[in-house]
Amino acid sequence: MPYYRQRVDKALEELLKQLPEITGELHRAMHYSVFNGGKRVRPLLVYLTGQALSVTDRMQDLPACAVEFIHCYSLVHDDMPAMDDDDLRRGKATCHKQFSEATALLAGDALQTLAFETLTKNQYLNDNQALAMVRVLAQASGAAGMAGGQAIDLAATGQAQTMSLDELKTMHEHKTGALIRASVQLGALCLPDVSKDTLIALDQYAANIGLSFQIKDDILDIESDTQTLGKQQGADINLNKATYPALLGLNGARQMARQCHENALDSLSGFDKKADPLRWLSEYIITRDH
Ligand code: IPE
Ligand code: IPE
Ligand code: MG
Ligand code: MG
Ligand code: MG
Repeated sequence: MPYYRQRVDKALEELLKQLPEITGELHRAMHYSVFNGGKRVRPLLVYLTGQALSVTDRMQDLPACAVEFIHCYSLVHDDMPAMDDDDLRRGKATCHKQFSEATALLAGDALQTLAFETLTKNQYLNDNQALAMVRVLAQASGAAGMAGGQAIDLAATGQAQTMSLDELKTMHEHKTGALIRASVQLGALCLPDVSKDTLIALDQYAANIGLSFQIKDDILDIESDTQTLGKQQGADINLNKATYPALLGLNGARQMARQCHENALDSLSGFDKKADPLRWLSEYIITRDH
């Protein structure tokens, strides 16, 4: 989907350019952490959900940027020494390695707040829609979403074997699934009169691909290589992280990811051809190589 990648990159660049440059260092660290070859899966989800509902792309630009800002911030903090302590991200030095830990902390903070400011600037949506989007993204990013999931992840680091399958699922649903579900909801909220049934079906789709996304991330940590991944291969094993392959083995994890993909497709059974790109994305998530 190069069209959407280019489209969101242009919008992200524009938003960063509009920021008053009080300190060059912070600005550079933010730019560095957004423009380093990410796959842009979450923005793509916003756009493709919009496509399935016949929403125009220009309504989706800012929500797509907002969720990518949150994602980029989460990666900057995830890589820091107090969390996963990684040196490589998207094939380049991690933000704290390239700049400093303090700058990485601030770049993450500033990307997070920029995400919410971005949601308030959408001239194509009414205030109720903007407010609903802020709430969805805040809940998905905070203690009941991504940040909560990261806390579970950190508490379990070094003791993968003590986690039950249910606990692992809960962790993945929060640390990764929550933002993926939010991406789909943001796409759907661009349609003011979207029906409850449609929202429920899309949310089921999102919950399934959210889980398969993190399972595949765990699998790639084992079966890919550092250059393809753009991050250190084997990082989870080194930290004895709780992952699906650690609990179920590689084959069990692959089966689980495939099952989530099938469930995601089932959730879209009531949608027409306009949802085919969402179907394709679900397949891409479990077949990607990085
Ligand atoms: C990596 O996310 C972190 C997880 C939530 C698993 P992505 O695989 O989407 O990372 P980028 O944005 O493409 O680098
Ligand atoms: C990160 O999960 C999830 C986030 C909320 C950032 P991982 O720690 O597995 O992500 P990678 O493998 O470092 O990209
Ligand atoms: Mg992590
Ligand atoms: Mg990590
Ligand atoms: Mg990982």
